[in-house]
Amino acid sequence: MTTKLATRKKESYKIFDEIAPSYDFLNHFLSLGIDIYWRQKFLAALPKTDKIVVLDLATGTGDVPLVLVKDKRVKKVTGIDRSKGMVDIGKKKIQKKKLEKKIELKLGDGVKIPFADETFNVVTISFGIRNFSDHKESLKNIYRVLSPKGKVLIMEFSLPKNSVMRFLYFFYFRNILPRIGNLFSGHGDAYTYLNKTVEDFPYGAEFAGHLKEAGLKNVSYKSYTFGIATLYQGEK
Ligand SMILES: C[S@@+](CC[C@H](N)C(=O)[O-])C[C@H]1O[C@@H](n2cnc3c(N)ncnc32)[C@H](O)[C@@H]1O
Repeated sequence: MTTKLATRKKESYKIFDEIAPSYDFLNHFLSLGIDIYWRQKFLAALPKTDKIVVLDLATGTGDVPLVLVKDKRVKKVTGIDRSKGMVDIGKKKIQKKKLEKKIELKLGDGVKIPFADETFNVVTISFGIRNFSDHKESLKNIYRVLSPKGKVLIMEFSLPKNSVMRFLYFFYFRNILPRIGNLFSGHGDAYTYLNKTVEDFPYGAEFAGHLKEAGLKNVSYKSYTFGIATLYQGEK
């Protein structure tokens, strides 16, 4: 990773503060709504136990908690994020759906994770961990806050294997997405930065290896939509 990208990651929440008002719209528009389908994948991956208590890291505007509570076994989801702008929008969405008793969003760092050991039986992150300044440290702390046999579920961008899809993907992600994103969000280069974080981040077997290094067992991963997104799973 270049020093410039590493430095920007430390303060990436500031970028999200600025693009928060247009984040949900642009997410759905730029992904043609596929991001909604990707987040739904968390539901089938939940453990088969009752009373599931979840921590959602880099929760943004709360879309993952809102998906998770569709499963009645999910008793509580706590979502944390460093961007107040994103969390404030998420809180409004939750109030509108009257889900305040089940979903709590607050400010918090996904790297240090401000919770006691063994507090949650599931930790989720969607499209957040590549923005963390130190994802290996985050994985160690995820392991720490998980209860024994707890599960981590991480959805993150990855790169297509097929050469034609890869060519089309790079064309879209490097040329079209940043232009539309920067224009509609009113931010000079937020979406150029986001594209760089995707291309720079480890994926597939390499990232699965990082989960194993953090102590997680039964690690597996499955890619979706020609390999554009991958869901990683691991157990404590
Ligand atoms: C691409 S958004 C993903 C939001 C949401 N999970 C979703 O699926 O739409 C990335 C989020 O990561 C947050 N973030 C970046 N660094 C963080 C950190 N160290 N701790 C917690 N959140 C962080 C940003 O503020 C932003 O809301």
